[in-house]
Amino acid sequence: MNMKCPLLLFVLLSGLLSQTGCAGSEQLSGLDNQENSSIEQNPSSQNPSTKLAPTLVMNNGLTLPTAGIGTYSLHGQTCFNSVYSALKSGVRLIDTAYMYGNEKEVGQAVRQAVADGICKREDITVITKIYPGTQYEHPEEAIEQALSKLDIGYIDIMLLHHPGTNDVKAYKAMEKYQAEGKIKSLGISCFYVKELSEFLPRVNVKPVLVQNEIHPYYQDTEVVDFIHKNDIVVQAWYPLGGRGFQDELLKDPVLADIAKAHGKSIVQVILRWHWQRNVVAIPGSSNPAHIAENHDIFDFELTDDEMNRIASLNRNEKHDWY
Ligand SMILES: NC(=O)c1ccc[n+]([C@@H]2O[C@H](COP(=O)([O-])OP(=O)(O)OC[C@H]3O[C@@H](n4cnc5c(N)ncnc54)[C@H](OP(=O)(O)O)[C@@H]3O)[C@@H](O)[C@H]2O)c1
Repeated sequence: MNMKCPLLLFVLLSGLLSQTGCAGSEQLSGLDNQENSSIEQNPSSQNPSTKLAPTLVMNNGLTLPTAGIGTYSLHGQTCFNSVYSALKSGVRLIDTAYMYGNEKEVGQAVRQAVADGICKREDITVITKIYPGTQYEHPEEAIEQALSKLDIGYIDIMLLHHPGTNDVKAYKAMEKYQAEGKIKSLGISCFYVKELSEFLPRVNVKPVLVQNEIHPYYQDTEVVDFIHKNDIVVQAWYPLGGRGFQDELLKDPVLADIAKAHGKSIVQVILRWHWQRNVVAIPGSSNPAHIAENHDIFDFELTDDEMNRIASLNRNEKHDWY
C-alpha cells in the first residue's frame, strides 16, 4: 500500500504487530454447541505471536485492517469454522451480508473467538450489508435484524449491497443508527462512477468504503482511482476471480512466473497486488490452510515491473453482473 496516500496511512503501531494474550481456551463451542469436534484446529493459533495485517485510517478517523475474509456461500458450521479459523490466523476483517444468510454464524464465531481470548471485540471489523427491495423499503427493520442476528454489540461497517430504489432512504436510516453508535461506519457496494456521482451528493455522511468486483482480469482502474480521489477505501470482492471463475486466473503463466520468483503462491501474488494497489481484499475461503496462506502476504514486495506485468493482464472481464 502506498504510504504517501493519506487515506491509506497505516497506523504504524498496528502494522504487523505481534498480538499477545492469545492463549485463551482451546475449547470451542461451535455453532449452537453442535458438532464441536468438526471444528478445525489451526496449529498456528498455538503461537502466542499472531501476525496482524497493517491497518489504515478511514475518512472518519476509524481504522480498518488492510486484509480480510469474505463469507459468501459459506453456511452453518463451515462458515463458523472459516471465521473462527481466520481470527485465529490473525485476520481481523470479516465480510458478511443479509443476502449470504450467515450473519448468525459470523456473529457466533466472533463471540467465540472473543470468549476464547483470541482477540478483543474492538480489534475486529465486521462488515454486513442490507439488500435492495424490502430491506431498503423498511431499513430500520433490516438494520435491527442485522444487529440481532450478529449479536456482537454493534456493527462496524454497514453497506448498501447494491444501488436501487430507496437506496438513499436506506442509507439515511444507517446514518441515524451511526449517530446512535449502533453502526460505526457506513459504506456502499457495487457502485461505479455514475452511481457514485449521483449518490454522494445526496447523503450526509460520506461512505468510508466502496466494495466492488476487482481482480487481475477486471482491474477497473478508472473506478478505483475515482473512489480513492474521493478519500474512500476501495475493497475488492471476487479478489481471486470469484468462486467458480478461477480456472484460468489461478493458472495464469505471468502470475505463476512472479509467484515462483518470490517463492509464493499465485493467490498470494494476487492478494499482494491488491494490497500494493491500495485495495483491501476479502478473499473467501472455507479452508483454514488457504485462510492462513491468504494472510501471509506481508513479507514480500512486488517490484514496479511485476505490478506493471499484472496490470497488463486486465481483460475488463467481469465475472458477475452487478
Ligand atoms: N458486495 C458484493 O456484491 C459481493 C459480491 C461477491 C462477493 N462478495 C464478498 O467478497 C468475498 C470474496 O468473494 P468470493 O469468496 O466469492 O470469491 P474469491 O475470494 O475471489 O474466491 C474464493 C474462492 O477462492 C478459493 N481460494 C481462497 N483462497 C485460496 C487459496 N489460498 N488457494 C486456492 N484457492 C483459494 C476458495 O476456495 P476454498 O474455500 O477451497 O479456499 C473459493 O473457491 C465474498 O466471500 C463476499 O464476502 C461481495
